[in-house]
Amino acid sequence: MEVRPSDIFVTSYPRSGTTWTQELVWMVANDLDYETSNAIPLTERYPFLEFSVFVHPVMMKRFHDENSDSERKIKLLEWVTQPATEQLALMTKQRFIKSHLPLSLLPPDLLDTAKVVYVARDPRDVAVSFYHLNRAMRTQGYIDDFKKYWKFFISDLHHWTPYFEHLKESWEKRNHPNLLFLFYEELSKDLPKAVRRVADFLGKSFTNEEIAKLCEHLSIDNFKNNKSVNYDVMKELGILISDGQSFIRKGKAGGWRDYFDEEMEQEADKWMEKNLRDTDLRFPHLK
Ligand code: A3P
Repeated sequence: MEVRPSDIFVTSYPRSGTTWTQELVWMVANDLDYETSNAIPLTERYPFLEFSVFVHPVMMKRFHDENSDSERKIKLLEWVTQPATEQLALMTKQRFIKSHLPLSLLPPDLLDTAKVVYVARDPRDVAVSFYHLNRAMRTQGYIDDFKKYWKFFISDLHHWTPYFEHLKESWEKRNHPNLLFLFYEELSKDLPKAVRRVADFLGKSFTNEEIAKLCEHLSIDNFKNNKSVNYDVMKELGILISDGQSFIRKGKAGGWRDYFDEEMEQEADKWMEKNLRDTDLRFPHLK
C-alpha cells in the first residue's frame, strides 16, 4: 500500500490498549472534535489493516446469511470485512489506520513517511484479555481454558505472535521522530501525562481543562457506554458472541493475577526474563 505523509498508524500487539490509544490519538489529531467522534464509529475512522484476512470465506457466508434480513447490517458487514487497503485508497482526508502487524510486516517506508503510535502492555494482562476476546470472537473461536491458552501464547502459536519480537521491533525505533512508544500501564497510571505526550508528538497543545475533559471521555466507564468506540457493532453483526464478553472489558492493569497459578506465574517470570535479556525494553510498572 502507498503510505501518505499525513497518515497516522496506531499499532500494537492485540489487547494492549489499541482502542483506547486510537481514540486518544484521533481526538488529539482532530483538535478534540467530540461531535465527529460521537457520530462516526472508530471502525470507520480507523480501517483495520489486516482484519479481512481473518474472516474465512465460510464465516463470511455465515455472517451474510445471519444478517440477510437487514440491508444496513449487510452494508456494515461488507465495510468491516472489506480489505482495508481498498478503503484507504479511496480516502481523501487524513487517514487513521489500525494494525496489529509488527513494523517488519508494515510498508518499509512507513516511519520515513508517516507517524506511528505504538502501544505495549504487560504480556500477562494481554494474554488474559486476548483469551476472553478469542472465546467471544467467532472469527477466532477459542474453546479451551486459560492455562492452555497461555501455553499457546508463550509458544508463539497465536495470531500476531511472537509477542516480544513485536514489541522489540518498535522499541528499537522509539527514538525515531515519527514513532511514539506508549505503555498501557502508563496510560492507566497518568492519563493526562500520556495525552500530553501524544499532543507533543502530533504538534498540538491543549489547556488543562481540555485535557481533563478528554481524560473523562477516555475513561473506561465512558468507553464502555460509548457506542462509537465500544465495538458493539461486532455484536450486532454476530461477529462477537452477543451474550459473551464485551470488547471493552475491565480496563485494569494487573488483573492477570486472578488467572495465573503459581506454576504459571513462575513460567511467566522465566519467559519474560529470557525475552528481556537482550534488550533494554522494560515495562514501566516492573522497573
Ligand atoms: P481488558 O480485557 O484487560 O479489560 P485493544 O483495544 O488493544 O483490543 O485492548 C483491549 C484492552 O484495553 C481491554 O483490556 C480493554 O478493556 C482495555 N481498554 C479499552 N478501553 C479502555 C479504557 N478507556 N481504559 C482502560 N482500558 C481500556
